[in-house]
Amino acid sequence: MTYSRIAGTGSYLPEKVVTNQDLEKMMDTSDEWIRERTGICRRHTAAEDETCSDMALAAAGQAIEMAGIEVTDIDLIIVGTVTPDKIFPSTACILQRRLGIRGCPAMDIQAACSGFIYALDLARRQIETGGATTALVIGSEILSRLTNWEDRSTAVLFGDGAGAVILQASDEPGIISTHIHSDGEFEDLLEVPWGISSNYEAVRAGEAYIQMQGNAVFRKAVGTLGSMAQETLDGNNVDKHDLDWLVPHQANLRIIAAAAKKVDLPMDRVVVTVDEHANTSSASIPLALDTAVRDGRIQRGQLLLFEAFGAGFTWGSALVRF
Ligand code: COA
Repeated sequence: MTYSRIAGTGSYLPEKVVTNQDLEKMMDTSDEWIRERTGICRRHTAAEDETCSDMALAAAGQAIEMAGIEVTDIDLIIVGTVTPDKIFPSTACILQRRLGIRGCPAMDIQAACSGFIYALDLARRQIETGGATTALVIGSEILSRLTNWEDRSTAVLFGDGAGAVILQASDEPGIISTHIHSDGEFEDLLEVPWGISSNYEAVRAGEAYIQMQGNAVFRKAVGTLGSMAQETLDGNNVDKHDLDWLVPHQANLRIIAAAAKKVDLPMDRVVVTVDEHANTSSASIPLALDTAVRDGRIQRGQLLLFEAFGAGFTWGSALVRF
């Protein structure tokens, strides 16, 4: 049996930092409100000429270097994003050209904040069934372009960034299991309500922004993350006390704390980056993973649980022996 393992991680954050104090000057909000309700202190925002593929390329470079592979070893590229460079071709194809490789499949996947877990699920199944040996799996987002900076209920929540992993074929399981789900019933609770085939005029006018019913999303996220952790642990006969780290999607510190409680992990075994990065959608899990790998918290051989929840709703998890 062929398995897959994470051979390297990488990440990228744009240079510009926007603090809560900066936001106080732009809208009717306060550092205290933002920190108390979300745990967010600052976020990075992309430069005007920076694109999703620019950030993906930077994160990919780090992951490739850590994995110790040649770029030409990559035979599958999947990018999770809701903020692609172009409507088409995919950001993954653009990235492929920029990496200087040709021929291997490259695709974007759109599952909102669960995009990275969806991409990881696809990539590991490709590797396990012989379709690929070395996959580049990325989450890259420029949410600042979808943010209405006059809407304080959403503007304070999001940030830009990218995270990447190199997934390689292995004799032993690294990725032990992945679990992905969605339920389109809740489309209205969290959305950018227009696109190419519906009210494109609004998109062209620059009015296509993130809209959210925060309270309802909060409740749904907490409930779903709890049951997802149970599904993942039960499906693998793993006791929650065997987990070394929870690496959750970074949307809100209170949601993260509730998820940690469900698996009985103290907060010092949870990777938290939401304070520094805010919600970077599909980039948030690989960004958090790379942060904790590079600062030495996450060590080889440890057991990790990834959990994501996002618009759709979509949700997903992965149990990983790092
Ligand atoms: N600064 C100051 N006040 C704000 C504010 C801001 N940035 N945003 C909203 N408020 C106000 C509201 O207008 C409201 O005022 P009112 O009581 O006078 O009407 C009050 O704060 C409470 O708003 P509410 O939306 O009920 O707050 P909340 O406790 O639900 O917190 C969120 C709001 C968005 C932080 C919270 O609902 C949340 O985190 N939801 C999940 C969001 C998320 O993670 N989405 C992505 C999932 S992938």
